[in-house]
Amino acid sequence: MKKIVLSALVLASLYTPNVTAQSNDIPHLEKRDNHFAMIVDGKPFLILGAQINNSSSWPSTLPAAWSAAESLHVNTVEAPVYWEQIEPTKGTFDFANVDLLVNQAREHQLRLVLLWFGTWKNGQNHYVPEWIKSDPKTYPREITAYGKLLDVMSPNSQANLDADKHAFAALMRHLKSIDADRHTVIMIQVENESGSVGSVRDFSLAAQKSFDSGVPGDLVRSLHLRSGTWAHAFGPDADESFAAYYTAHYIGEVAAAGKAEYALPMYCNVWFAYPVHALENRDRPSPGQEYPSGGPQQANIPIWKVAAPAIDILAPDFYSEDSSLFHQIVATYARPDNPLFIPETRQDVHFGPNFFYALGHGAIGFSPFGIDRSAQATQPADQVAAPPAAARVASPADNYALFNGPGPQIAQLNLEGKLQSAVEEKGAARQSIHLPAADAIVSFGFPQSDGAQPPGTPTLQGRVIVAQLGPLEFLVAGFDASVSFTLPASELQKTPNQQLEILRAEEGKYVDGAWQTTRILNGDQTDRGLNFRSTAPPLVRIRLHKLPLYDEQVRRNAQ
Ligand code: DGJ
Repeated sequence: MKKIVLSALVLASLYTPNVTAQSNDIPHLEKRDNHFAMIVDGKPFLILGAQINNSSSWPSTLPAAWSAAESLHVNTVEAPVYWEQIEPTKGTFDFANVDLLVNQAREHQLRLVLLWFGTWKNGQNHYVPEWIKSDPKTYPREITAYGKLLDVMSPNSQANLDADKHAFAALMRHLKSIDADRHTVIMIQVENESGSVGSVRDFSLAAQKSFDSGVPGDLVRSLHLRSGTWAHAFGPDADESFAAYYTAHYIGEVAAAGKAEYALPMYCNVWFAYPVHALENRDRPSPGQEYPSGGPQQANIPIWKVAAPAIDILAPDFYSEDSSLFHQIVATYARPDNPLFIPETRQDVHFGPNFFYALGHGAIGFSPFGIDRSAQATQPADQVAAPPAAARVASPADNYALFNGPGPQIAQLNLEGKLQSAVEEKGAARQSIHLPAADAIVSFGFPQSDGAQPPGTPTLQGRVIVAQLGPLEFLVAGFDASVSFTLPASELQKTPNQQLEILRAEEGKYVDGAWQTTRILNGDQTDRGLNFRSTAPPLVRIRLHKLPLYDEQVRRNAQ
């Protein structure tokens, strides 16, 4: 008798991506029924990203960055390109660091998202070349209401815009020449956390003239505004709305100039407006002080969508410990006109739950910031957070390891709107995920005793995704949780004896798009739900059926 070797059982993938793109297609975004996916080499691609530190795109620091990226199991590295480095003198370009990034990423079999540190970096101008910094007459700065020159370039200056466009277009032209046939670079971030730190807007004479001339017609029409002055249209937000329109317009023009050379997807990362902690009645945010004014923060999204059509994604950087704020930000930025992408976040206890939550809300990618920190001294202050000693908290590496193989399937399932997640919340250690033909009952934390509520975890680490593969077939993954399936309550009400039964639960992995079963799970591994612990949890495909109803009449007839 032939021995059945389970590990060799290879099942064809049910999810051969249904995309018509050729493998030599430029990386692009695909939209289906308000769901999105990145398509790379003709296939859906889930960005398991990691961003290196600001000053790490250099020969001396890249080796540490690649090894940090590899140990996190990422498939994409986000790395800056510095305007001051590529154009040290006006009109002369040096792409040595860019070439190094691309070549070394290929050696490490990683994709790249390049971050254009141009006119804006964290609401300031620190990466513009010296020849711009030292010539504020030609390249004007923002001026505050009280006449101070800021380290922020004016978004109301054509000279500034032309200089940035010229450099960015040269970068994109160069990328096309070295990478159009390889697609190592899959997406571009245009500027970094744009907006103005230090003033709500530019109060220079030129900017004031523009402000006084009123709201541009395209904005009036698209947002159905009362035409007229900025103050009439936007009330107390007039100054920031003006800044948002001209900042978005500037960056949209930079992106369009780059796309005219090489049309990769382009996004802007966002320093969004965090909730204000202030006295009652003093709770209006203070743009330019608490966050860069005019950037694509929550309230400015509609203005940005009108003024910067070449920007495909407004992508929030998330640095808070507040998971309900994360859920709000996801709800704000995951829109039919805006794919969800989290380009920066902390590598702390919240990483895993937020990553799963984002996946369950259609994210095309996720990325912790500052992965190549070598010493605490170089670590940004907002990156330091220690989990309570007792809890074993999965690191970004654990999370990414789980999704590295099935990334294309996950991206495809999200494009089809077939993926959902549940994350543990305080007081909600048991939750249901409603699927078309069944409910997934998710219980967080172990041990789980019969008849008792699940205990949850001390640091709210429980999280799962459930994806619909067939009417009663699911892909399930998670940490610190068990998952079982039941018929929807509405169906059980009508037919209380109707039951679901597991036909087969397989632990396995996707290799080159094909599912490989490692073992069949049964007994203690399925009787009280599929078990996902905090260390190396499995990826499971489970197939169920509805047990036929017992028919008394049929039994009598047979006697
Ligand atoms: C957000 C910025 O976008 C990054 O470049 C970096 O400065 C981090 N903040 C630091 O935490």
